[in-house]
Parts: sequence; structure tokens; C-alpha cells
Amino acid sequence: MSSAAAVIDVQHLSKTFLTPLALRKVRAVQDVSFRVSRGQIFGFLGPNGAGKTTTIKVLTNLIRPSSGKVSVLGGSPSDLHVRLKTGFLPEMPNFYDYLSAREFLDIMARFYGLGGRTRRKRVDEMLELVGMTYAAKRKLRKFSKGMLQRIGIAQALIGDPELVILDEPMSGLDPIGRKEVRDIIASLKQKGRTVFFSSHILSDIEMICDEVVVLNRGRNVAAGPLDSLLHPGRVMSEIVAQGPGDVEALPGKAVSMEGKPGFLRLQCSPDEVDSTIQTLMQRGFHIKSVTEARMSLEDLIVSKAFQEDSRDD
Ligand SMILES: Nc1ncnc2c1ncn2[C@@H]1O[C@H](COP(=O)(O)OP(=O)(O)OP(=O)(O)O)[C@@H](O)[C@H]1O
Ligand SMILES: [Mg+2]
Repeated sequence: MSSAAAVIDVQHLSKTFLTPLALRKVRAVQDVSFRVSRGQIFGFLGPNGAGKTTTIKVLTNLIRPSSGKVSVLGGSPSDLHVRLKTGFLPEMPNFYDYLSAREFLDIMARFYGLGGRTRRKRVDEMLELVGMTYAAKRKLRKFSKGMLQRIGIAQALIGDPELVILDEPMSGLDPIGRKEVRDIIASLKQKGRTVFFSSHILSDIEMICDEVVVLNRGRNVAAGPLDSLLHPGRVMSEIVAQGPGDVEALPGKAVSMEGKPGFLRLQCSPDEVDSTIQTLMQRGFHIKSVTEARMSLEDLIVSKAFQEDSRDD
């Protein structure tokens, strides 16, 4: 893909913070590259401190990169026309809490140049979209964390931006709220918008993202379409069995299941399933289930993080 077609193009981005008095350098992001195409839902994954928020701050012009090239909607993150076409939910939204939800969204809509009736309609639509119509007149300081998060999403979308950047949009939300945000993100894609969002909730990313980038300790450890990352040529079968037998003496890597005394889990290749079941039964185990174990994003992060750790040693 050419960089002209990319809505976000990050090439060899590094950001180093100097602690006070420059006593220590924190390499928050190191040589990270990725491209986000128009119309994609792009997931930005990584454990705490991986460098996600730092990268997002560069994309939204809150900080400057130490080195590397960053282009957003074909321009620099500092260009006004780029900022007007980008909606942004910060990690820790800090809104004017003496305003009501409607007043706050009204101010944000003015920022995007919406006037009169259009603005009022848009504010009402956004309140409805995030399920906050009932609290429209309430001051933001009386909002719960999840309610504030919803208002944060509403303000990110109020200008009908081409690109939506959300830093942990599901954080603080209950399961219903998370589902609603997933639906909102999916509807943005349907309208041809591009969504770039970070999350710790792997299932949320797995469910809706076309492509992901995984960071660990500031470095890009994996990238690509989800299917190729989650099926790296290895489909395993997982057998759950129950019995009194000795886990140590079993073939393969059998592990006891936490909180379920007598239960064990065992992975093998699909063509070993029959023989493994036979062995288990001969040793007095009952077979509880046999499933295909798909590699989860969590497994992916752990395995990649482990590879990185071994490289450091
Ligand atoms: N202003 C700053 N000054 C010094 N260090 C910083 C600063 N901002 C971030 N860092 C450091 O950079 C690293 C990356 O932080 P960042 O907030 O980007 O991580 P993150 O992936 O968003 O983590 P989380 O999932 O916890 O939100 C961390 O080690 C953090 O301590
Ligand atoms: Mg963060």
C-alpha cells in the first residue's frame, strides 16, 4: 500500500522522555512502524507501559516525536485541517466538570463549526448514541467513570470525523457499555470512517478489528491482519479431562486446572487426539471436552513478549 492511501502512516517512530534533570531516559517508543488504511478498524494492543498512549499522543499532536515520520490524513498531526477531521478520546479525559453533558457537547460542536439547529440536533444524536440522553442536564462532575467515558466518546464523534482515535475506549465500561462501544465502532466503519483504538480487552479487539499492531516495551512485536496472527500455522486440540491420575505421568503438557481439583487440560495436535484420549481413559480419566484451541491475542502477546525478553538477555 502506498503511503498516500494510508490514513495513518507511522515510520520508525521513537519517543524518549527525559526525567527531571535529565537523570534518566525513558525510551517509551522505539522504532515503531505501521500503516492504517482508510475504512479500517485498527487495534493497538500491548501491556501497561508498552507505549500506546505515547504513540497516540504523537498522532494527536500532544507531543512531538524524538525521531521518525508520522503522517495523519496525509498531513502533519499539527495541521489544523487534520485536527478538525480527527476525533479523539484521550486516555484520561479531563472535561470541564462544572458543565452539563449537553453544554459540554455543545461547546465541542461549536469547535467543529456546527451552528444553530444542526448543532443542537447533533448534540442530541450523540447523547442518544452513547445512551446519555437521560443525564443530559447533569453536571459532568456528578458523572460516574463509565458515564464520563461515554461522554468522551460522544465528543470524539461530534464533528463527524474521518478518523477516530480512541485511547482505551472500553475502559471503565460495564459489559453492556463495551458492547455498545463495539457497535458504535462497527457502525463508524460502515460509514467509511477509520477507527484506531487501543484496548487491553483482547476479546473486544478480536471481535471487531481488521488489523492490529502489538507493542511491548515500546517496540513493535507483531502486526497484521488478525487471522494471520491468530493462526500462525498451528491449530491445536485441547482436551479437558477429570480423574484421579497423576498429571506428571501423562503425555504432552498436561496442566491441572486452577480452582477445579481433579481437572486437567492437555493440548495436542489434531491427529494425536484419538491416541491421547485412549491413554487418558486407560489411566482412569473421564473426557470432559475436546475443542480446537485457537491461539488468543493474549497467548500472542505473552509469546512475543517472551521472545523479546530472551533476546534482551
Ligand atoms: N511524560 C512522560 N515522562 C516520562 N516517562 C513517560 C511519560 N509518558 C510516558 N512515559 C513512560 O513511557 C512508557 C510508555 O507509556 P505509555 O503511557 O505510552 O504506555 P501505554 O502502553 O499507554 O500503557 P497503559 O496500557 O498502561 O496505558 C512508560 O514506561 C511510561 O512510564
Ligand atoms: Mg495508555
